[in-house]
Amino acid sequence: MKSKKRILSGMRPTGMLHLGNYHGALANWNNMQEEYDCFFFIADWHALTSDYEKTDHIHGSIQEMIIDWLSVGLSPEKCTMFIQSDIKEHAELFLLLCMITPTPWLERNPTYKEQVTQLSNKDLSTFGFLGYPVLQAADIIMYKAEGVPVGIDQVPHVEITREIARRFNYLYDKVFPEPEAILTPTPKILGIDRRKMSKSYNNAIFLADTPADIEKKVLEMITDPQRKRKKDPGDPNICNVFDFHKLYSDDALIKEMDSGCRNADIGCVHCKKEMAKNLISTLAPVHEKRQYYLDRPKEVNEIIQAGSEKARIVAQETMKQVRDAVKI
Ligand code: TRP
Repeated sequence: MKSKKRILSGMRPTGMLHLGNYHGALANWNNMQEEYDCFFFIADWHALTSDYEKTDHIHGSIQEMIIDWLSVGLSPEKCTMFIQSDIKEHAELFLLLCMITPTPWLERNPTYKEQVTQLSNKDLSTFGFLGYPVLQAADIIMYKAEGVPVGIDQVPHVEITREIARRFNYLYDKVFPEPEAILTPTPKILGIDRRKMSKSYNNAIFLADTPADIEKKVLEMITDPQRKRKKDPGDPNICNVFDFHKLYSDDALIKEMDSGCRNADIGCVHCKKEMAKNLISTLAPVHEKRQYYLDRPKEVNEIIQAGSEKARIVAQETMKQVRDAVKI
């Protein structure tokens, strides 16, 4: 039997996940666990690269994220879920990779340059922040992952990982495959104010939101800005609520909303209420699972323990080969 291709991906612990996170990553992970040998982890050391001053929220964020992962259907029977800092081998491999990574590779990283200017409220002139992709490279090649499902913003990091793996293989011994980014197909989904959905913009609908929260947020959503009154015809193509319908409603309703909007037969409130109803029922099984795990913290803990054990076995084996190759 041909063994399954191994993939790995991670998320920084940002706490409760929203629909943007779901459609941008989790939904894809959920599908991939059926087909691939999947390693999914929470990159808590990566959180420190920018949030080193205030660390007390990280533990809670990890717990919330694990619950979300399990609620949407990631299953310990199908994939290996763990926390980065539980596998100390990542730190050792990171250290060794630091020795061979030329700093210009890191300085020219577009994600790095963008973040240093954008997050101007934080002092990111640290060695750790510059080295972010080196730690990410260690995460990936530790498990000899062939594929890394990520969004477009992470592609430069996977590219640096390939370069670092190649350089290690060239300098020491051929230990690592060069991983490839697997771009996540992401449907367009904006926040309730039509900006990118983001926790920090306060415009997100969370997986854990109650039906009442959801209905309230959906009613606040900005629709076609040109459509001021019900008698004005609207354009569903530029309406965020309509994009949501495409994800959560059936074809018949989508058609009905489309023509109703274009012909000014229906108002936005009606269209929103229909969408909210479907979003709420789509999330009902997620909420049910969520409650199950909230009631069983011990079981959640055991899942992470077991995942860490599986990850550690692979990491220890890789590190044996690495130490042999480096001769240290
Ligand atoms: N940098 C990734 C992000 O912010 C998180 C991450 C850390 C990651 N290590 C990884 C993703 C390894 C994929 C593979 O989303």
